[in-house]
Amino acid sequence: SENTLAQPVGTTLDRYIMRAQAEFAYATGELSQLLRDLALAGKIVHRDVNRAGLTGIIGSMGQQNVQGEQQQRLDVEANIRFIRALRNGGEACAILSEEEDDIIQTGNMKGRYVVAIDPLDGSSNIDVNVSIGTIFSIYRRVSAVGGPATRADFLQGGRAQIAAGYILYGTSTMLVYTTGHGVVGFTYENSLGEFFLSHPNITIPATGPVFSCNEGNWFDYPEYVRAFLTRCKQQRMSGRYVGSLVADYHRNLFTGGIYLYPPTAKNPAGKLRVLYENFPLALLIEQAGGRAETGQGPMLDLEPTDFHQRSPLFVGSPELMTSLLAESAASV
Ligand code: AHG
Ligand code: MN
Ligand code: MN
Ligand code: MN
Repeated sequence: SENTLAQPVGTTLDRYIMRAQAEFAYATGELSQLLRDLALAGKIVHRDVNRAGLTGIIGSMGQQNVQGEQQQRLDVEANIRFIRALRNGGEACAILSEEEDDIIQTGNMKGRYVVAIDPLDGSSNIDVNVSIGTIFSIYRRVSAVGGPATRADFLQGGRAQIAAGYILYGTSTMLVYTTGHGVVGFTYENSLGEFFLSHPNITIPATGPVFSCNEGNWFDYPEYVRAFLTRCKQQRMSGRYVGSLVADYHRNLFTGGIYLYPPTAKNPAGKLRVLYENFPLALLIEQAGGRAETGQGPMLDLEPTDFHQRSPLFVGSPELMTSLLAESAASV
């Protein structure tokens, strides 16, 4: 896997990508350029996030997005930054964003990749200084190079992703991604404007002490989910829920644990979006030795039909996932 490169902690993202590219055919470096473009936008959003309270960028836009959510200023700002970076980088022929109704054609008709993105995840936490993130998912296009991207480019299914990852704007800003050769983590050194390799090989513990869900939805949860969570509590596990998917996911990746967003009355098909939240995080967790499920089967096997469709998401340590699914099987 990529980690056989065993590159030294502290190497820069650029150097890491160049060496990894030599080892794994990233199709002549285009994927490498894409990762650089995403990292650049991440640096810019890091700066926006870190001074949000000072630059009048907090608060809502007073308009709704296609999700029916109140768009936050930083949602829109991050959306612009990532679209611009990917357009200028030249490798992405189109982008699907949580904040855009339809796909954005970048004009890079010769670009061989498409990117689905949640430019800012955890919007409810922006104004209250709690960690937020960006989630991205990369496919090689199936439409003809030289023409515009098509719906089919984005609806290839989770296992067709060639790369996926997230940026976490937390106590430190980290870029975590996979290209199918394990999960690697970089930490941003703001004073130098560089991402440095800090976690060459991230794997999730087989089990862990944490369950993460919004218990406000308890009375909407399916019976098997309540049975599972009740056992977690009887075992005195810790309930940890930030309300930013990237932050909850990242913590559980290191402590071991399980994140649950089951169907609710408000979101009977689940709240989280398949193409730019669930699929990328499911690819990452499988690469890290964990599991991601919809409740009806592996997350990555869901056949997507719409750009902004939602699904339930259960994701985390394999032993906790097995235990949840055993409850599900016992309940039918
Ligand atoms: P986004 O801010 O990109 O719309 O995503 C919000 C998601 C996710 O970040 C978070 O885990 C979840 O919504 C929180 O939902 P609840 O507030 O319903 O718990
Ligand atoms: Mn999100
Ligand atoms: Mn978002
Ligand atoms: Mn949103």
